[in-house]
Order: sequence, then structure tokens, then C-alpha cells
Amino acid sequence: SHSNGNGKPQVIPANGENSATTGSEMLTTRQGHPVYDNQNTRTVGNRGPVTMENYHFLEKMSHFDRERIPERVVHARGAGAHGYFESYGTVGGEPVAKYTRAKVFQNTEKRTPVFVRFSSVIHGGHSPETLRDPRGFAVKMYTEDGNWDLVGNNLKVFFIRDAMKFPDLVHAFKPDPVTNIQDGERIFDFISNTPEALHMITFLFSPWGIPANYRQMQGSGVNTYKWVNAEGEAVLVKYHWEPLQGIRNLTQQQAEEIQGKNFNHATQDLYEAIEKGEFPQWELCVQIMADGEHPELDFDPLDDTKLWPKEQFPFLPVGKMTLDRNPVNYFAEVEQVAFGTGVLVDGLDFSDDKMLQGRTFAYSDTQRYRVGTNYLQLPINAPKRAVASNQRDGQMAYRQDIVEGLNPHVNYEPSTMGGLKEAPRNGREHTPMYQAALVREKISRQNNFQQAGETYRNFEDWERDDLINNLVNTLAPAKKHIQEKMIELFTQCDEDYGRRFAEGLKASESKVIDAGPIGTTDTHKAVEQAESVSR
Ligand code: HEM
Repeated sequence: SHSNGNGKPQVIPANGENSATTGSEMLTTRQGHPVYDNQNTRTVGNRGPVTMENYHFLEKMSHFDRERIPERVVHARGAGAHGYFESYGTVGGEPVAKYTRAKVFQNTEKRTPVFVRFSSVIHGGHSPETLRDPRGFAVKMYTEDGNWDLVGNNLKVFFIRDAMKFPDLVHAFKPDPVTNIQDGERIFDFISNTPEALHMITFLFSPWGIPANYRQMQGSGVNTYKWVNAEGEAVLVKYHWEPLQGIRNLTQQQAEEIQGKNFNHATQDLYEAIEKGEFPQWELCVQIMADGEHPELDFDPLDDTKLWPKEQFPFLPVGKMTLDRNPVNYFAEVEQVAFGTGVLVDGLDFSDDKMLQGRTFAYSDTQRYRVGTNYLQLPINAPKRAVASNQRDGQMAYRQDIVEGLNPHVNYEPSTMGGLKEAPRNGREHTPMYQAALVREKISRQNNFQQAGETYRNFEDWERDDLINNLVNTLAPAKKHIQEKMIELFTQCDEDYGRRFAEGLKASESKVIDAGPIGTTDTHKAVEQAESVSR
């Protein structure tokens, strides 16, 4: 499909600007040797044996042997696209500069390039895109001040609030280490001992756990961040992407019908929309809270299992993102892209959210292993502004950051002999004060069930019906004590929730239920497709 119309193949750089090409269609080795015969290995007589000096064959095969890098340990299946972000310059009727000095938000004339990767979480790189799973929504903005990554999900809350628990959470959801099959009993063995997960579980087992595609879903930063202005003053913020295409989610049955025919439907939908010029767009909204502990609230503003109620903390639009260009090479761009919560620009800061800090260690750590030490030199990850650092060498070092006119002997700082210098500050540093004992403790305001109950009651009927069906079908084959614990926990969220779940379990006792993928069975009644309302 990549042809320029005159019969000659178009030269497609592997990932942007830097791929040296021959400019002709002549096949060469990576050493630049023309390949005269790409069909036959060199052999003693045409029946073999093969000789060891088959350089082209050995290079071709050994490179093929290394075509895969490790998958992401979570979010392995994904699709990506390029586009741009435009700031409105204001937030809630005020100049955005009142709250943040981040350059990306100041200029309304400018388009900041972005790369977005959407994903599902638990299963491997070619798993069906219809599975019940949170969806990743990771945005890399190549701003004039360097890169800003907003690594979010479609759902606005998360299962846990301490990063210590993440590997266990993921193990419980991943396939059983013996059978290699995902198992609802293992999942709820863990969840029944993790009451803070009930809010997320309520979303995940409803139609919100299977977005219809990537274009019609929301995104959220989930964790709480800070905005910092020129005076060094901070506010707490949460980020949300609202799709201008509307929101659409699937019932379990609708998802099964799609999956029977197409297990790549979300990737295909995104790719084809962009090829057709139907560029998907999202509005970026923020919720803002004064920096502080907010003892007046019945939840902790740093607790990522909670929504900030919209009525109290309205969604304030700050800009718009448009995706208008597909990747030319899936591996070079979508597979090798590396997002992380530590990748902030001046004017954006971390909150004290301890989950966020745990995440921030994990991303670049895994990327140095998954992609390699110099992953930031790859075009998809490198900022689109000049890089000038004293970091040197390492596997696959592609270039050194040597700045023209500076002394190439000086790869340290400070120096009086013509090396790199620290940057001038953009504004005053934000310097929060801390005084507390060093402890290992849960937060005090846990309130694990109230918002889960509110979310249950706010669902439409078809969403609640599907939620109960999916929970019953997943838990029907589970051990009695796990079922009973879940009845107790759902009842604490909402009495009707607990009762309907318990009744569903009882009714299912007479039926044979297959312990298949979570939520699956044939006991669903058909539910008409409906649009979900923004939450
Ligand atoms: C990917 C860790 C929580 C969203 C990943 C990866 C790791 C990780 C190791 C693979 C990254 C890579 O290979 O490049 C963690 C830890 C968490 C956590 C330790 C909690 C302590 C979350 C939360 C969200 C989230 C709360 C949503 C806000 C994502 C997304 C990706 C991802 C969207 C895929 C990024 C991409 O498309 O490349 N996470 N994660 N994670 N995580 Fe998390």
C-alpha cells in the first residue's frame, strides 16, 4: 500500500527522520552489499550441505531471530497514532498561567505534536481487543520544554492505592502460572482481600470494562498531580480526556459477537478512521483543588480509588487533541514508544500520591530493560527540541549529545573549559513542607465502599444488569468463601448490589458454568446497544 503511484516503492524511514536509505529498490544487506540471490543459500552442489560463510543468510536469519523485544509486562496489546494538542490558554474563565506556567498551555496559536498509545492491560501483544480490561490511554506531548507524558487509563479510578500491591494485583489478573488460563477465582481471591478495589471492580465488570473502540472512550490521568505557577504556588489537578466522538461501551454479549469475527477491531477502527480523514479528537479537562489535605472531604484527594465529584470540582476544558496520522511502522513507533509518569515539564509537578511515586520508578526501569539503556535516543521517544546532556555510551548508543561550538572533551559539569551549563529558571521553585513520622501505614480516610455504591446507583439499568451478570458468571465457579466475602463487600457498597449478586449466584447453581474468560457465558439476555453517559 505504500507506493508513490509511479510504481517505485516509496522509501519509508523506519521511524521518522533518520533512516539512511538507498533511494532505489535494490535489495542490500545492512552492510550495504547488493543481494544478488535472496532465494538460495550457498551449498556444495544443489542438494547441500550448506557452508558456514553464507554471510547474507546468517545475517538475515540471526536478525530475524532477534525481531522481538520483551513485551510490556502490562499493556502489551496496543495501537498508536500521531497528532497535535492545542491549548485554549484559559481554564475556568481565567488565564491558565494563574495555575501553571507550563509552556504547552500558554500559547493558543501553537500545535504541540503528540503521540498516543491506547492499549488493553492483561493479555499478550496479539490478544483480542474485546476483553474485559481497563484500557490504557497514554499521551506523549513533544513540548518546547521537552516531553510531557500523561500515562492514563479510560477509567478514572484504580484498583489499589499503594504501589507495593501492583505486582500482586497484576499476578492475580494474569493467567494462572500452572494452567496459563485467566481465572476469576484467583482474581476474586485477591480482590476479596482488597476492599479499596471495589469501586474499580464496579466499573470494570459493567460495560465500562469493554469500551466499544479506542475513539469512543475517555481517558484519565487517574493519579493526582500538581500545577505550579510562576510564583511557585501549586494546586492539585486531575486530568481527563473527553472524546468528541461520544462514549460507547459494550455489553459482554456484544463483545463476544465482535470477538467471534474480529479480534483486532479497535486497532482497525482507529487506523481506518485516520486513513479516511475522520480524525478523532479529545478535549482535555482538568479538575482543580487547592493544595492541601482537605479534611472536609470524605475521601483523600490523593486516593486514586476515588472520583472527585464533578458537582464540586467541575471539568474545566483546557485544550483539544487531534489524532491525524497513523504510524508508518508499528514496531518502531507503537512497540518502542516509552511513556512514564516521571516525564513532566516545568510547571507540572507530582503530588504526594504514593501510588504515583511508585509508578514513576517502574516505567523508566522497565523501559531500560524492555527497550534498552538508550531508549530515549529512538526518534519516537526523543524530544523534538535539542538534547544536551552529559550522559554517555551504553548499549546501542546512537549518537552523543555533542553541541556544536562546545568543547567535546568536556562531558561533565561544572567546567570552565566550554561545557554545558545549567538552565535559567522559569519561575520560583515549588517547595512544600513536610513533617511527619516515617511509617508503613494505610491512609486514614479509606471510605472504600461509598463511591462504589454511588457509581452502582448512577449506572443505567442496562449497565447494572450487565454488571450483575458478569460478576455472577465470573464468580459462579469460585470457592464458596470467596463468593460469600464478595456478597458482603458488594452489600457494603449498596444493599441492592449485594442482594442482586447473591440472587444471581443462587440462580446459577443449577446451571453448568464454564470458567472461561472473565464475565463469559451464554446466560446473558440480549441488551440493546446503548450510549454511555460521561462519568
Ligand atoms: C504500562 C507499571 C499503575 C497506565 C505500564 C508498564 C509498567 C507499569 C511497568 C509497562 C511500561 C512499558 O513497558 O513501557 C505500573 C505500576 C503501577 C501502574 C507499578 C502502580 C503502582 C497504572 C495506572 C495507570 C496506568 C494507575 C492509569 C492511570 C498505564 C498505561 C501503560 C502502562 C496506559 C501503557 C503505556 C504504553 O502504552 O506504552 N505500567 N502501572 N498504570 N501503565 Fe502502568
